[in-house]
Amino acid sequence: MSGFLKSSVGQKFLMSVTGLFLIVFLAVHLTANLFLLFGDNAFNTVSHFMETNPLIQIMQPVLALGFIIHMIYAAILTLQNMKARPQSYNKFEQGHSSTWASRNMFILGALVLIFLVIHIMNFFWKMKVSGSPLLAEVDVDGVMMHNSYALVAGLFTNADFGLVYSIFYVLGAIFLGLHLHHAFWSALQTFGWSNNVWRKRLEVVGDVYAVIIAAGFSIIPLYFLIFM
Ligand code: HEM
Repeated sequence: MSGFLKSSVGQKFLMSVTGLFLIVFLAVHLTANLFLLFGDNAFNTVSHFMETNPLIQIMQPVLALGFIIHMIYAAILTLQNMKARPQSYNKFEQGHSSTWASRNMFILGALVLIFLVIHIMNFFWKMKVSGSPLLAEVDVDGVMMHNSYALVAGLFTNADFGLVYSIFYVLGAIFLGLHLHHAFWSALQTFGWSNNVWRKRLEVVGDVYAVIIAAGFSIIPLYFLIFM
């Protein structure tokens, strides 16, 4: 088993499994976040459920581990590929056999990571560690809960830096969408689920998913920027 995980096939396998796990997380996270568009009570209720549900609490460290494994193996495989390729790799020929996103998965992943670190500081850190006056408890149908809506709305509607954060979040969503454009079918290909017919279909599924994720996460800052 440890031999398999040391082989490049095993490492690609781990990256693909964790990548698919993160793809599922993104769908859940976007669904929860879209409740922001339905007002404070709707989002606070969903956020309170996430904060108190035992299964979600168990999944949070698993999620962190998924991100860490995915990033470590992405770095290892990228370094191995760079070493294996001749330096004079012809840029023109690369363009014929692969897309820009597929050739820049590591860069796109790194940009998503920069986004993620700042994003965690914006919300998760304040909700779980440092606290924020914006999170002061509110009563929703007789249940006391954190005002997570005020924390998110406060970031995007802030008079000084709301615009900068909104642009930053839209850029993060676009980088993520480009990363996913190649990620989905690439992960499935690792498991051998791809022949010529299925490759085209899986690429379409991956592209539709990437567009939904990029557009869905972009709508939220844009909504606060334009309507609030
Ligand atoms: C408009 C866009 C987004 C909004 C409003 C948003 C909102 C939030 C909020 C409020 C939390 C804290 C949840 C809690 O601790 O209960 C959170 C956590 C998190 N977000 Fe986002 N998010 C956005 C985009 C993204 C994107 C694009 C990614 C992935 C690249 C992402 C990854 C995470 C992760 C890993 C956590 C920590 C785990 C968790 O709390 O579930 N988020 N987000």
